[in-house]
Amino acid sequence: MRIVVTGGAGFMGSNLVEYLVNQGHEVVVFDKFTYAANINNLKEVLDKISIRKVDIADKEALMKAFDEVKPERVFHLAAETHVDRSYKYPEVFVRTNVQGTINMLEAARKFDFELIVTSTDEVYGDRWGKPPCDEECKLDPTNPYSASKATADMFINAYFKSYGINVKVVRPSNNYGPRQYPEKLIPRTIFRILNNLPPQIHGTGEQLRDWLYVKDFCEGIVTVAEKGVKGEIYNMPAGNERSVLEVVKTILRIMGKPEDWIEFLPDRPYQDRRYAMKGDKIRSLGWKPKTPFEEGMRKTVKWYLEKGREWWDKQNIEQEIKSAPTHR
Ligand SMILES: NC(=O)c1ccc[n+]([C@@H]2O[C@H](COP(=O)([O-])OP(=O)(O)OC[C@H]3O[C@@H](n4cnc5c(N)ncnc54)[C@H](O)[C@@H]3O)[C@@H](O)[C@H]2O)c1
Repeated sequence: MRIVVTGGAGFMGSNLVEYLVNQGHEVVVFDKFTYAANINNLKEVLDKISIRKVDIADKEALMKAFDEVKPERVFHLAAETHVDRSYKYPEVFVRTNVQGTINMLEAARKFDFELIVTSTDEVYGDRWGKPPCDEECKLDPTNPYSASKATADMFINAYFKSYGINVKVVRPSNNYGPRQYPEKLIPRTIFRILNNLPPQIHGTGEQLRDWLYVKDFCEGIVTVAEKGVKGEIYNMPAGNERSVLEVVKTILRIMGKPEDWIEFLPDRPYQDRRYAMKGDKIRSLGWKPKTPFEEGMRKTVKWYLEKGREWWDKQNIEQEIKSAPTHR
């Protein structure tokens, strides 16, 4: 199949590209190459794929690219993804995550491809003290990033209802694994330890996240593409709920450091304490995550120890490990 992956030079996108190439598909990456992209992420498959530098928020450029490539299936992952940045630059998040997704929907109408969109568990908001969400739950985003993703989901619903386009949505929980940009919790923690700096946590680190190994995400989104129903949304929980503190302690343990070597910083004014979803719907398609948390974390730490330092510029790593810590 000829498949486009938007955001294919980012963390989850590049893992998905590799997964699809290994399945024998012809893959074209559409990516703007923001700070979060990295050509190294695609180096193992470079001779088997094509890459187009496209900004999904630029409708004309996007339409031209689709007209030339004419894919049968599109996995839409391109997005601005860092919650902390979304407080600083909300307009950038609206441009890419909302306008960019509307452009993808317009392209799906015009070129009649199958569109699978990656949303997030964050659209349901904070689930602390509340039951996990099924796909019918009220959307209750609490930060500009999740608000932009929830808005995009509303447009998807509207385009499906109005035009009957062939679209499916997945809502994965927190992904982790190789190639994640060092601004995020797990790589940032690993790089701090590698640089002899204690890991940092805002507040007590009691915030709960559900950690999904990125290879399991790839299997999940492909399952939804192949077996899911048009117009439907599929939550993709991992069943690996761990607090931020537990994640940091796990990394310290794997890297052979004392588990209490942590710098606690004053808490922020607001943090979601828990995201939680039910996954019965995607399980009914035959998918379930395969990677136990400890195993996924060991693989991830090993990858960063072997490849991390040569993957990104030294300045980028240094800048990120000194910036504010995050819980995602
Ligand atoms: N990482 C997670 O834990 C997680 C969890 C749930 C959902 N998601 C969603 O999954 C998707 C992928 O996340 P990720 O962590 O791999 O992101 P990432 O930040 O690692 O990569 C995003 C990619 O999108 C590209 N991009 C950004 N703006 C663009 C634009 N205007 N046009 C074209 N390309 C653009 C970037 O260059 C980058 O390659 C996103 O939609 C995100 O919202 C992520």
